[in-house]
Amino acid sequence: MSRITYVNGQYVPHSHASVHIEDRGYQFADGVYEVFAVHDGKLIGEQGHLDRLAHSLGALQIDWPMAQRPFMVVVKEVVRRNHVKFGLVYIQVTRGVARRDHPFPANPISAMVITARKMAPLDKAVLNKGVKVITIPDIRWKRRDIKSIALLPNCLGKQQAREAGAFEAWQYDEDGTITEGTSSNAWIVTKDGELVTRQVGPTILNGITRLAVLEAAREAGLTIAERPFTIEEALEAKEAFVTSSTSHVKAVTQIDDKTVGNGHVGEITSKLLDLYVTYIEEKGGPIVTDRWN
Ligand code: PDD
Repeated sequence: MSRITYVNGQYVPHSHASVHIEDRGYQFADGVYEVFAVHDGKLIGEQGHLDRLAHSLGALQIDWPMAQRPFMVVVKEVVRRNHVKFGLVYIQVTRGVARRDHPFPANPISAMVITARKMAPLDKAVLNKGVKVITIPDIRWKRRDIKSIALLPNCLGKQQAREAGAFEAWQYDEDGTITEGTSSNAWIVTKDGELVTRQVGPTILNGITRLAVLEAAREAGLTIAERPFTIEEALEAKEAFVTSSTSHVKAVTQIDDKTVGNGHVGEITSKLLDLYVTYIEEKGGPIVTDRWN
């Protein structure tokens, strides 16, 4: 069955979907995006993604392509037309088409593309297998709270990870603290059993999965610290994992050449995956936060 994509007001066969060559997204990466997970036919963290998209658009002074309510109707229609029960929806909004010139054009018309694709259903056995991450310098800009489509450093980092046989690259700032993965948030569990992930701010993207896991962990009474942690602390951690809409809660059992803990998926990580799945199935995603930077 052929895929259907939404492009600037029209549902078109994916193979025919196209945008103008002078779209500012294409020329300047002048746009933002969101990735929603679809779990059992439902969008996860709908309100969180909407709020974060509003934050990203607002920070770059890009207009919403349409009001939020019809926007969500279109997102769900793309999911429906592609028969996605488990998978993801990708939404990209750019400042639109204009003659190439750096300043914002007068009266721009935002452009929007939405695609959806199927993925294998969330599988606890696969997520509990444990993957390797490498550490690399964070060479990105200083507004990582904006979900910008300018992802070249992230692509370079992920490629470096792949070449090192790793699933993800954890990026570290000049002060030696881990910021986040190239497309996921980074977490550790210390020897004392404290669950640690970096606090929200311009140095990371506030993940919707991160928020859901934090809420589920809080409800379960775990000790949580939202603070920076160093590479050394990560190497000494008892457990580690990553979170994102596409990798959910994925155990990390190796950081660079160091085995994490005993090399097996940690007890808290595995429990958090269970809690996360229950949480999203019962509540549909994290409760809205207004802290995006
Ligand atoms: N990436 N940090 C970065 C840099 C990310 O790109 C992502 C998500 C996250 C996790 O956010 P969330 O839990 O809302 O998915 C953190 C998406 C999945 C992507 O670029 O494909």
